Amino acid sequence: MAFFQWEDSYSVKIKEIDDQHKVLVGMIAKLHEALSQGKGKDMMGVIVNELVDYSINHFSLEEKYMQTYGYPNYTSHKKEHYDFINKIDVFRSDFQAGKIMLSLEVMNFLKDWLTKHIMGVDQQYSMFFREKGLK
Ligand code: FEO
Repeated sequence: MAFFQWEDSYSVKIKEIDDQHKVLVGMIAKLHEALSQGKGKDMMGVIVNELVDYSINHFSLEEKYMQTYGYPNYTSHKKEHYDFINKIDVFRSDFQAGKIMLSLEVMNFLKDWLTKHIMGVDQQYSMFFREKGLK
């Protein structure tokens, strides 16, 4: 069984955002696969970079919609994004510098954070955005 895969229950019923969430799930799965197969630090570093960059872009998109439509929980949602980016950016730096290794613990953190975020605060904007016409 795959370490992490998309499930229909993750859907926020907005295609553009679901598609980005699928990419994020896929990146975490790819990183886990690289770890399991004992791939080198360089290859894992590429995936970590992609994950950080894609997360930043994804969060920017959600925050843009929140600002555009006056989403009431914008500030608290943005803080979750900010805290996550800070955390994985520190991880990226330490990993690239050889200070820490990628581990199953890190993988579980990424998987659990994304699942909880998508199923929690992301689900909360679904109805609000759809009422504004996003689909
Ligand atoms: Fe899909 Fe709030 O991140």
